[in-house]
Amino acid sequence: MSDAGTDLKGGVPFTPTPLDRSERVYVAGHRGLVGSAIVRKLEAEGFEDVIGRTSAELDLKDRDQTFAFFREAKPKVVVLAAAKVGGILANSTYPVDFLSDNLRIQTNVMDAALEQGVERFLFLGSSCIYPKFASQPIKEDTLLTGHLEETNDAYAIAKIAGILGVQSVRKQYGLPWISAMPTNLYGPNDNFSPKGSHVLPALIRRYDEAAAAGVHAVTNWGTGTPRREFLHVDDMADACLHLLEHYDGPAQVNVGTGSDVTIKEIAETIAEVVGFTGDTEWDTTKPDGTPQKLLDVTKLAEAGWTAKISLADGLASTVDWYREHHTALRE
Ligand SMILES: NC(=O)c1ccc[n+]([C@@H]2O[C@H](COP(=O)([O-])OP(=O)(O)OC[C@H]3O[C@@H](n4cnc5c(N)ncnc54)[C@H](OP(=O)(O)O)[C@@H]3O)[C@@H](O)[C@H]2O)c1
Repeated sequence: MSDAGTDLKGGVPFTPTPLDRSERVYVAGHRGLVGSAIVRKLEAEGFEDVIGRTSAELDLKDRDQTFAFFREAKPKVVVLAAAKVGGILANSTYPVDFLSDNLRIQTNVMDAALEQGVERFLFLGSSCIYPKFASQPIKEDTLLTGHLEETNDAYAIAKIAGILGVQSVRKQYGLPWISAMPTNLYGPNDNFSPKGSHVLPALIRRYDEAAAAGVHAVTNWGTGTPRREFLHVDDMADACLHLLEHYDGPAQVNVGTGSDVTIKEIAETIAEVVGFTGDTEWDTTKPDGTPQKLLDVTKLAEAGWTAKISLADGLASTVDWYREHHTALRE
């Protein structure tokens, strides 16, 4: 599947083919939620040379270090899953870091990959790139048609710059790089820290701690009525490989399940999975955020991919993972 492909310099469309399993793939951010799932997926699919570096080994904000790494490692395929990522609190408290770090990471990785002539490059953004009041479900072509959500606009602008970066490389150098925009993700290696986590891991931690402590009530922010979409990260990794092998085009591709649930429903399911039998209270003095956020996944379905892991199964396995690892989680 391909958008006409005529945006590529030279005007010749690129036809994606299965990747060579012996070629070197660099997964930037290989220890994170997304990067670690992509590594698991690639290894399960028989890729023999998947490499990654921690931020302590290679700070992608540092241009010289990034170029030196690419000159030595010479990857053939790059997945950019390294980013400064966080929930609403972190995003609204540290907008400078979210803008500056992400712009630098992206620019350095893209420029260094360009110098090496990397042909297949997947840039990962986020659904927060879309306007706050985009009509639902959100189609890819609503990008840049309205104001962004203020709490994470710095992060969103950096990610929009990344999409433009990919499109510019296609136009100026003719390399068939692509971008994918996942919905809310969850799964093993997520960030469960109270300071930096997204809504789903935050709820898992809150309810599990409440169940363990035997408290009678849990209080969540807002009314619980906003609707959100959640995709298991192993599905996301499966979609990433599928897009690398089957999709080419300049437009970012939404990656989601195509259906959403209320925060109240997700809280109830998590309470049940962790065995919390107390009450849930909703602090309606706290903001709800946007009433609905659901991606239109028609483009992804046309490229031949749909989500496979149900929310119930995904939540149960994520809670198991959290319980096994909760003493060694990032803070
Ligand atoms: N989580 C979601 O729900 C979600 C939803 C949509 C899109 N995404 C996108 O997916 C991508 C990855 O997100 P994630 O949830 O996997 O985040 P994550 O779990 O926080 O992982 C981010 C990774 O980036 C690496 N990193 C950060 N700064 C770095 C630096 N200066 N140099 C080198 N590596 C650096 C970290 O490496 P170390 O561990 O070595 O420090 C970490 O492994 C992001 O682009 C994000 O926008 C995530």
